[in-house]
Amino acid sequence: MRAWVAGAVMMVLPIAGQTSPLLEPGTLVALPGAAQSGGMSVEQALRERRSVRSYGRDPLSMREIAQLLWAAQGVSEPRQGFRTAPSAGATFPLEVDLLVTGIPELPAGVYRYRPREHSLELRVPGDRRRTLEAAALGQSSIGNAPVVMVISGVTPRTARRYGARAERYVHMEAGHAAQNVYLQGTALGIGTVVIGAFRDDGVAAALSLERSEEPLYIMPLGRLR
Ligand SMILES: Cc1cc2nc3c(=O)[nH]c(=O)nc-3n(C[C@H](O)[C@H](O)[C@H](O)COP(=O)(O)O)c2cc1C
Repeated sequence: MRAWVAGAVMMVLPIAGQTSPLLEPGTLVALPGAAQSGGMSVEQALRERRSVRSYGRDPLSMREIAQLLWAAQGVSEPRQGFRTAPSAGATFPLEVDLLVTGIPELPAGVYRYRPREHSLELRVPGDRRRTLEAAALGQSSIGNAPVVMVISGVTPRTARRYGARAERYVHMEAGHAAQNVYLQGTALGIGTVVIGAFRDDGVAAALSLERSEEPLYIMPLGRLR
């Protein structure tokens, strides 16, 4: 792992095959650049997409994690900051967190995706997977996955422009982002399921979310068997 300081934050670059040392909260982990083309057509991904609730044992690679995050909320037009999923008035109310447990290059923890930097920020060190599974009524797809994505919405960002309509807009956006992850996962041989059945307060506690951050979807991610 290479480490350096960028502005006020510590940046690290995981190296494939190397186990990472412990990281401090606030450290940014640089992600590999997202591929802009792939081997499966959109039509085939649409046809093959299914909800998958149990996964193979092999960990996901940093490249695969980076690709899935980019599909969810990656910047695809850097000049104006537009992303892979549409956003009402480009208000970008979604936050994407990743619970990591089974990735050799990345210590277990809760990480926040930073779309502009295409990086992960460590927020909470340690394995919160079982707490999250309990908050989702014991759904075992969460406990079995090496990586779990959680999409949350910050409605006030969109409400400043759209008032009472913001709540529905934010929920729609979570759907766009989640479908992108489903399709990208299908193309990579990675399974997922959108989980909407959970206790909000339990998920917020597992991820140490801010009060303004409302968890909307949990998506376990793992290799297809
Ligand atoms: C809003 C919403 C909430 C869902 N919540 C759960 C859930 O809590 N647990 C689960 O295993 N699947 C959940 N699903 C996935 C559905 O069960 C799944 O999409 C459905 O069975 C159709 O299967 P398919 O996705 O393979 O087409 C949810 C889907 C949606 C759209």
